[in-house]
Amino acid sequence: MTKQWWKESVVYQIYPRSFNDSNGDGIGDLPGIIEKLDYLAELGIDVIWLSPVYDSPNDDNGYDIRDYRAIMDEFGTMEEFDQLLQQAHERNLKIVMDLVVNHTSDEHAWFVESKSSKDHPKRDYYIWKKGQNGEPPTNWESAFSGSAWQYDEATEEYFLHIFSKKQPDLNWENEDVRADVYDMMNWWLDKGIDGFRMDVINFISKDPAYPNGEVHEGKQYGDGSPYFMNGPRIHEFLHEMNQEVLSKHDILTVGEMPGVTPEEGKLYTAEDRNELSMVFHFEHMDVDGGELGKWSLNGWKLTDLKRILSKWQYELEEEGWNSLYWNNHDQPRVVSRFGNDQEYREKSAKMLGTCLHMMKGTPYIYQGEELGMTNVAFETIEEYEDLESLNMYDERVHQYGDAVQDVMERIHHKGRDNARTPMQWSKEKHAGFTTGRPWLGVNPNYKTINAEDALKNPDSVFHYYQQLIQLRKSNETIVYGKFDLLLQDSETIFAYTRTYGDDVLLVLCNFTGEEQKAKLGAFQNHSGEVVLTNREEEHAGSSNLANVILEPFEATVFAIK
Ligand code: NOJ
Repeated sequence: MTKQWWKESVVYQIYPRSFNDSNGDGIGDLPGIIEKLDYLAELGIDVIWLSPVYDSPNDDNGYDIRDYRAIMDEFGTMEEFDQLLQQAHERNLKIVMDLVVNHTSDEHAWFVESKSSKDHPKRDYYIWKKGQNGEPPTNWESAFSGSAWQYDEATEEYFLHIFSKKQPDLNWENEDVRADVYDMMNWWLDKGIDGFRMDVINFISKDPAYPNGEVHEGKQYGDGSPYFMNGPRIHEFLHEMNQEVLSKHDILTVGEMPGVTPEEGKLYTAEDRNELSMVFHFEHMDVDGGELGKWSLNGWKLTDLKRILSKWQYELEEEGWNSLYWNNHDQPRVVSRFGNDQEYREKSAKMLGTCLHMMKGTPYIYQGEELGMTNVAFETIEEYEDLESLNMYDERVHQYGDAVQDVMERIHHKGRDNARTPMQWSKEKHAGFTTGRPWLGVNPNYKTINAEDALKNPDSVFHYYQQLIQLRKSNETIVYGKFDLLLQDSETIFAYTRTYGDDVLLVLCNFTGEEQKAKLGAFQNHSGEVVLTNREEEHAGSSNLANVILEPFEATVFAIK
């Protein structure tokens, strides 16, 4: 396995709309990010992943791009982007852009032309099909509720949109589309950016037969995902992209891939296949899903979480590379989901950070995770902005007749706005995010959870994350060591080792609010030196690792002696 800078890095995701507003319009912007570069440098991260900053009508907060080579007005100008890139580079911070090329906005010039007539040369840039007996071409459901096909009166055909109807899918079978995308990618790379996070990139190759999907119980539409996830030409397209663009630069690439398995993940990331550096899989994010998909509130089991994460660790041990994440702009806050956001908020946030960052792979931190930011529970649907939540609410309340209270509870636990409430910088009004009216409400807990306080407190989650990041820089075992799961059947402790040559690190994480005993017979005659811990007091167990008593939500990393 070769050594690469992106294997040794920690990535920090910025959701620009919610990060820092410099001009009082209530929306985060590029100058706002520039103001906070020193904060990010202090945290110690290496790479910033910027969620989309391109010109967009914002149906899906920038994941609907109108012009790939322009900056969204609300975020600033291209000159300001260039300044951001330069100032980040001066601090040794790299910038990875979000590449959204499964679809564009319906306001993108390509789509406007494509829609204008059946004979337009750009018609074939998107996926147009005739209906069948007044019905859409297939029964596929959109990820944002309703049919995945939209009828166009003027040309009497339907276009495919796996996401909202303002996000038509590009037709990757058309080689002109591919060439235009590669051109655009090269244009950004020539500016000096350091890589791409690729939005739902495993959706770009569709099954040309366009079969109907299975209709699951209680559902109106069919599940089209087997026909567009990891489709027939996906590896060919990504290999071509690699040859035309990626391989010409020393960059980080990460493909967002719902539905990807470890076996597929290996194919996408094995070095000799020349596709991507790593992928984001969703298996651990689905651990608490169910019959309503992500909206089910079924609870979750630690043994399931461990089984999934360790399967990815083992499968990609020899070939390929893992990404590691708990959070992003689409997921609820991890401390509310897998930790305890009340009594043990800081302790469990540190534990979760340890558990993730000590695994093998490139860790990602989502803005506010380093403060232990939590989910929010707005009372009414009117206070929410995310179209996925709004569409789901509308469908479940108005079509299925679900109780409003139940639907709100699902949004409180799983809605994407949990991640999108403004970054909590200080105790000041609107958490110091803006002097205006924030585009989405601030979490009312900002007076106790904010960056200003965290920076002053040496025991804060922020300073713990800082240590986690530093440790990775001084310890190759954390980057390149082999992973082995221990205590596989425990529902309370996540334990594993990392081994690199003669060095062995033992990672113990208590996922409960009660004391737990870790019985590690294999370490009977070993003592351990504490490398990192979220305990306040010394570890009595360090002299003999056979029986270690863990405090509630404790995480400790031992170097085995
Ligand atoms: C995945 C992105 O992370 C999400 O925010 C977006 O809505 C969809 N892809 C569609 O672009």
